Amino acid sequence: MEHMIQLNIKNAGLREGELEKMKPIVGAAYETLMQRSGAGSEMLGWLNLPNEYDREEFARIQAAAKRIQQQSEVLVSIGIGGSYLGARAGIEYTMGPFANQLAGKREGVEVYFAGSNISSDYVQNIMDIIGDRDFSVNVISKSGTTTEPAVAFRLFKAKLEEKYGKEGAKQRIYATTDAKKGALRGLAEREGYETFVVPDATGGRFSCLTAVGLLPMAAAGMDIAEVMRGCGDACEKYNNPDLMTNDTMLYAALRFLMLMKGKSVEILANYEPSLTMFGEWYKQLMAESEGKDGKGIFPVSANFSTDLHSIGQFIQDGARTMFETVLWVEESRQDLTVPHDPENVDGLNFASGRTMQYMNEKAMKGTLLAHVDGGVPNLVLTVDKLNDYTFGELVYFFWKSLALSGYMIGVNPFDQPGVEAYKKNMFALLGKPGYEDMKDELEARLKDVN
Ligand code: PA5
Repeated sequence: MEHMIQLNIKNAGLREGELEKMKPIVGAAYETLMQRSGAGSEMLGWLNLPNEYDREEFARIQAAAKRIQQQSEVLVSIGIGGSYLGARAGIEYTMGPFANQLAGKREGVEVYFAGSNISSDYVQNIMDIIGDRDFSVNVISKSGTTTEPAVAFRLFKAKLEEKYGKEGAKQRIYATTDAKKGALRGLAEREGYETFVVPDATGGRFSCLTAVGLLPMAAAGMDIAEVMRGCGDACEKYNNPDLMTNDTMLYAALRFLMLMKGKSVEILANYEPSLTMFGEWYKQLMAESEGKDGKGIFPVSANFSTDLHSIGQFIQDGARTMFETVLWVEESRQDLTVPHDPENVDGLNFASGRTMQYMNEKAMKGTLLAHVDGGVPNLVLTVDKLNDYTFGELVYFFWKSLALSGYMIGVNPFDQPGVEAYKKNMFALLGKPGYEDMKDELEARLKDVN
């Protein structure tokens, strides 16, 4: 087994004996999780996923990805929240922020994500990027009733039908949804789309290594078998109740301690633009899982050194409410070196001959010391390289850590009741049947505030 993620807590500002005292509480959370006896335990489909996933469906996902690559230059992946973030994070993690522009250099299509907003401009931009080129659509919704992806799907389905006719369009639509229920399941069956299943016991933000994320990732050119291998190794590695050797327990214990000390904001900081979307995935996982019942750590992501020139000021010197988890990548994919300039007009010759990775590391270390000096405890999570394997490993690491810290703070990490509030109001204001009672009251309130 490759052991690639390492958690360093030397700069967390722990006091003597503090970690020792965490053993019973994190141990209890571990037992609750592993014995499947806690709140939301019917949603633990992710816990043993690498050993239990449907191999037949996995082969179908790989075959569908190949077909998409043969049929099309572009895949439009339609979904929101957990039905979107993991795939986008995985593609950028492994291929960088310019994955689409560089698609011609690998076996894989450009993937654009729609259905995660209600912006007309955004959808039209994707249509303009596609232009006359061949495209396919993967519509993803566990419930099959979410408004944002439903709107985007209508629009792209109409485009497909206009371009390929009704029958041709059906060959290019792939639907990922619940096995039995929801409007999307009904539509897919009626139209005869190829379908993939979001398992019952897997909530949205734990679904990126099911068909939800695997199909767009594979179509883009990721090796999803490697992703599952990384996830499987992590599942085995963290199946261990010892706080001192299980980094998911250690990270959960540290997050809990930070919260107890008034550090209610966690910044997941990276130094690689390939990790920007991973930060977005992390924010959803943490916020939707822990932010309830008036509790939780507010997750923020930061892209350094870029953001050191914006929110860096606040981190160094603003309200002392935060701690930082640095996601550090040891080996960059490329190794560009700073050229020498005999005239040294820009004064940069102190760095000439250095690799950019070397300079990035010095930036990371210098920032870490500065932030620790400024009262921001730092945890460092090191990944050796950004590849398919470590993506699977890291996803599992965060799933399990989060489940433990959610149980430690006493919430059900697997539901998201707060997401419903805006939906109800939006439905009422749009006049959706069943919400008539709320409409007048909301409109009266809006008159007061507008
Ligand atoms: O994590 C979650 O459960 C949510 O973010 C959902 O993934 C999101 O609301 C989309 O739901 P659905 O896949 O049912 O359209």
